[in-house]
Amino acid sequence: MTQSPAPGKRIAFVAGCRTPFAKAGGFLADETSLDLARCVLAELVSRAELKAEALDLVVLGTVVPNVAAANLAREAALACGAPASTDAFTVSRACASANQAIVSAAQAIASGQAEVVIAGGAESLSNVPILVSKPLSRALVAASKARTLGNRIKAFRGLKLKDVLPVPPALAEVSTGLTMGESAEKMAKENGIGREEQDRFAVRSHELAAAATDDGRLPAEILRAYQPPRYDASLQEDDGIRRDTDVATLAALRPVFDRRYGSLTAGNSSPLTDGAAALLMMREDKAKAEGYRPLGYLRSYAFAAVDPSDQLLLGPAYSTPIALDRAGLTLSDMDLVDLHEAFAAQVLSVLRAFESETFAREKLNRSPLGTVDEAKLNVEGGSIAIGHPFGATGARITLSVLNELTRRGGGFGLIGVCAAGGLGASFVVESE
Ligand SMILES: CC(C)(COP(=O)(O)OP(=O)(O)OC[C@H]1O[C@@H](n2cnc3c(N)ncnc32)[C@H](O)[C@@H]1OP(=O)(O)O)[C@@H](O)C(=O)NCCC(=O)NCCS
Repeated sequence: MTQSPAPGKRIAFVAGCRTPFAKAGGFLADETSLDLARCVLAELVSRAELKAEALDLVVLGTVVPNVAAANLAREAALACGAPASTDAFTVSRACASANQAIVSAAQAIASGQAEVVIAGGAESLSNVPILVSKPLSRALVAASKARTLGNRIKAFRGLKLKDVLPVPPALAEVSTGLTMGESAEKMAKENGIGREEQDRFAVRSHELAAAATDDGRLPAEILRAYQPPRYDASLQEDDGIRRDTDVATLAALRPVFDRRYGSLTAGNSSPLTDGAAALLMMREDKAKAEGYRPLGYLRSYAFAAVDPSDQLLLGPAYSTPIALDRAGLTLSDMDLVDLHEAFAAQVLSVLRAFESETFAREKLNRSPLGTVDEAKLNVEGGSIAIGHPFGATGARITLSVLNELTRRGGGFGLIGVCAAGGLGASFVVESE
């Protein structure tokens, strides 16, 4: 069954923009995820010449919670001038959180619950909440309830030095205990993806992202960010893109997730990143009635889930055939394919699965999707070079694919995003 609706009822992407993506601890380190979300929403409203009062709904994805603003979307909407009546909610689907935000927005539009919606995501990996140990947590609660200074001090008696040390946040799967990197390392080994192949893919990501930055394609989507507190330095491009890298340089880097036998390094993994991205969405007939020329449309979407202890980041290999079937299209119909680059080993594993007879037969009970033409793949680089603010990446990719399709005179784009928990998200978008 295809998800294509009647003419005029397609879900349109009207405009979009994002912050520069900056390495965590760097240029955007003083901005919380709320600051980033507020900036991107304000810029989008301004670029789209939208009256903020017209906004019915804001949906944002985020992964690491902002403890000061649990419903990030609502606080960002209010802060960017949306009226109190604008509904807003925040979603989390690990690295596919912005994909979920876009789908939630599409569903709200399709069901008539909202007409003018902003969907996207924000992440500040520079501002991860620092946790404390259970004994210290209990002591703090007891101290806050104590009525005398003596009892307050007593609450901390018996604490050991290790109890007062901060508990570092983990990028580990709860169900397996393995980090994303360790899981991707496992995928590299199981799929026979060697170090050189990964490093070549990483260099390609940097070269293509650098080219798309230098010719203005990526900066056109990016707002100029000013650095607090003095606001005298600014950034309008992604600062993880390296023009000084090559395969020989990458070959010298030490593996980080399996130091003895591993092949994943800082060079062929996506870096921890801060950033936000957002898209304005409406139904096609509404958008056109408002005088907009949509960037494109969401033709279909699919989510899938796999066993996290198997190949954790292979989700797009499962969600993509469903999205293509729902679009009534095949891989060869796609003019662009954009796969989120969590790790080179993961993208290369997904590409192998797309073309594998065995995978298709044993896991999907169908014929393989086929081989992705390299000339269509991640043509502006990907998360390895551009960076990966978890909650924002799905919106960044959707915006870039729509803009690139528009520049090429239209066509179909496939987007695939892997996510923790063994999840996969795929979109088919179209542009005219
Ligand atoms: C891989 C990871 C641990 C690396 O972190 P890091 O050590 O802080 O990374 P850095 O940027 O400092 O890079 C380490 C070194 O490699 C070098 N390097 C990184 N990329 C390079 C490149 N493309 N070319 C040349 N050198 C490079 C750096 O210059 C640095 O060298 P130095 O130590 O001499 O300064 C971290 O980025 C990470 O955890 N990534 C995965 C995130 C993740 O799991 N995401 C979820 C995906 S689903």
